Amino acid sequence: MSQFQSVKGTRDIFPEEAVRWQYVEEVVHRLAALHGFREIRIPLFEYTELFQRGIGSTTDIVGKEMFSFQPDPQGRSVTLRPEMTAGVMRAALQKNLFSLGTVHKLYYIGELFRKERPQAGRQRQFSQFGAELLGVSSPAAVAEVITMMMQIFSSLGLKGLRLRINTLGDSEERARFREALQGWFAPFHDILDEASKERLEKNPLRILDSKNPAIQELVARAPRLYDYLKESSLRDFEKVLFYLDERNIAYDIDHRLVRGLDYYCHTAFEVTSPELGAQDAIGGGGRYDALARELGSATDVPASGFAVGMERLLITMEKQGLLAELPSDVPLVYVVVQQQDLLDNGLQLAWQLRQAGITTEIDLAGKSMKAQMREANRVHASYALFLGATEYATGCYSLKNLATSEQITLTLDAMLQFLQEPKAQKPFYS
Ligand code: HAM
Repeated sequence: MSQFQSVKGTRDIFPEEAVRWQYVEEVVHRLAALHGFREIRIPLFEYTELFQRGIGSTTDIVGKEMFSFQPDPQGRSVTLRPEMTAGVMRAALQKNLFSLGTVHKLYYIGELFRKERPQAGRQRQFSQFGAELLGVSSPAAVAEVITMMMQIFSSLGLKGLRLRINTLGDSEERARFREALQGWFAPFHDILDEASKERLEKNPLRILDSKNPAIQELVARAPRLYDYLKESSLRDFEKVLFYLDERNIAYDIDHRLVRGLDYYCHTAFEVTSPELGAQDAIGGGGRYDALARELGSATDVPASGFAVGMERLLITMEKQGLLAELPSDVPLVYVVVQQQDLLDNGLQLAWQLRQAGITTEIDLAGKSMKAQMREANRVHASYALFLGATEYATGCYSLKNLATSEQITLTLDAMLQFLQEPKAQKPFYS
């Protein structure tokens, strides 16, 4: 055993588990393409100011959770990306993607880093897939990203997820509401816990999603942002809900939903999973028209998007029994060499099978035939292909189905044809 362990809050993904990731990733790639989104890959670290400006300096992410460091002694601080949205917007602005007023639909799958206290479903290195729809601001655009996210969930077979949705209005409406909240909570200052006092001062909206029951009770009686919204903002929100209704996407309106990132305006949403404990948010997102300006753009770039936590998604899928019948990456054929002087012929045969697109495994260590058979079973090969003196002399090979023990003898060409037929192949995703 090594004297080293993986760092707290990180984990290794071995092949048996990696096939699950590949399966989800494939569904994400397919459904993103179906909705016209194209993949973007951005750096793992960015200048720290990007996140301070983009996510908001009073948020937990920026205040407490960033892994920041200074690569050069006199240089600027950089930070391992704690989320993707700010980086995607930075990349789009840097490339001047909006000069023609076009719409860009981008999606990603990647690693993120947050210095949170590790616990079930909460890691310091984790993964998300997500999508950002840039350059258009309309209820239809927000509804499109929500729809795509929910379609990914249903394609994976997930059940019982709860979509909560809220509107946060525009910045003016939020400013008026913020003031109203501070005024309303002022007489209760003594009842507030330290975290709430801090929130009320720095980022009053965050007090709404306090988990403390005493604060929740107060919040229930406090003013609601909804009452500070103009007609146009209300209509915008209603139109988003209209599209969701049209598509049979169930949701709960939750006036307390504010989300932990500051860039949102108007619609914000979060999806929770009944299968997760305290960390039950599986994904979330919303509209963020002002982020581009925060990052120095001369104009607003209307935008909306979502991100889903891969680890939490996979925990949910596992608990719902959705990973039992998964794809296997086991070899279809194990070439069993009956005598060692035929090993080179065996290797050539394996090469021919692989050239023909047949997943093939062969022993490279000169093991006995018995040990090769043991290995074929251990790796769950579907067939053993025997190569002995007779096979070598006649050019006909015996193929044994390891599940049924049936054995057939075929010429190489006939065998390649047989193995290439779908019925000989294990269904990749059954
Ligand atoms: P977020 O709500 O911070 O949003 O993260 C989205 C999802 O990432 C969460 O719902 C959760 O499943 C997962 N996640 C977050 N932190 C951790 C962690 N420490 N360990 C495991 N999973 C975690 C965003 O990141 C926004 N960028 C979403 C967005 C995209 N908004 C607009 N576009």
